[in-house]
Amino acid sequence: MASPPMPPMPVESSWRAPGRVNLIGEHTDYNDGFCLPLAIPYGCTATVSPLSEPVLEVVSAQQEAPVEIALAELRPGRLTGADAWAGYAAGVAWAIAERGHRLPGLSISLDGDVPLGAGLSSSAALECSVAAALDDQLALGLDRSELVALARQAENDFVGAPTGGMDQLASVFAERDRVLLCDMRTLAVEPVPFDLDAAGLSLLVIDTRAPHQLTDGSYGERRAACEEAARLLGVPALRDVDLEGLPEALDRLPDETLRKRARHVITENDRTLACADLLRTGQLRRIGPLLTASHESMRDDFEITVPEVDLAVEVLLAFGAAGARMTGGGFGGCVIALMEPAQARAGALAVQAAFAGRGYAEPVGFPVTAAAGVHRLG
Ligand code: GLA
Repeated sequence: MASPPMPPMPVESSWRAPGRVNLIGEHTDYNDGFCLPLAIPYGCTATVSPLSEPVLEVVSAQQEAPVEIALAELRPGRLTGADAWAGYAAGVAWAIAERGHRLPGLSISLDGDVPLGAGLSSSAALECSVAAALDDQLALGLDRSELVALARQAENDFVGAPTGGMDQLASVFAERDRVLLCDMRTLAVEPVPFDLDAAGLSLLVIDTRAPHQLTDGSYGERRAACEEAARLLGVPALRDVDLEGLPEALDRLPDETLRKRARHVITENDRTLACADLLRTGQLRRIGPLLTASHESMRDDFEITVPEVDLAVEVLLAFGAAGARMTGGGFGGCVIALMEPAQARAGALAVQAAFAGRGYAEPVGFPVTAAAGVHRLG
């Protein structure tokens, strides 16, 4: 008997996934800890359609030339130099093939509006939109956790960025007017209320335009130091040391750099859980001091801020922000501040003036609200 005909492939599948800001919980994800990201109303749209040739074509509205790679050649290390940007998309297709699915020829067309290199997870938005669009187009029937896993595999193993998974989790599971409490050991997520409008507050983002790069060595160095500290303390990850155990842990670590790195992660986990507690009980206005303490910890203990970022935080606090901190991987990128809407406008202008005074690149400020995670278009 003839086998039933394959269902026809849809003409195309179009999905959008957001970038994120992390409210608090920085460099905790690869320590099996806690973070509290929200999706922003900027993202990436991926449209996947079939091709008759056995190739993967990646086209982006933000790039000059398309990249084409034969399916047989699809493996890490094949897209470098000017073609490297396409690796975030091709990596997802590769991760699908690695799971034993046969890939037909495909075209992936991308269009994103997350500022690039700003630490707002333009790469996770790209990966997650591609994962969802490929899943749909190829009728793989993956659940959301599997989409996160594909996106992470693309980033870690295909592109080679040793990141911790928060960004992809946020891009897939985020919800409107909620932040997502992520337990990075179990990958459990809990949406927690974060209705800025109802609280009469604004979350201002300042893109400092100080360059930010996660594939260079600094991020990996921080990660290695944390792993070394956990090893010396005899725990699986720094997540396993709480605030109560901090003094003893510090006594046992042999050098000041390791002590500082560990102190950041251990106190940051605590601040993140405290922040989630306040938000669960409707006390959004009271989280400010936790945000600012997080910044100080990143500046003094984790040492991942840069002068532009510190200046932006200082100016925003002077302009009445309830709290302000760098968000994301660090070494540049964005600052967030919780402010009254009128203050936010004045604060953004003040940061601009302060940057001009120091001869820094012109920063860009915009408010964000918590947006939805990955979704189908049309
Ligand atoms: C980047 C990484 C995340 C996380 C943050 C720091 O955004 O992609 O995995 O480690 O830095 O919190």
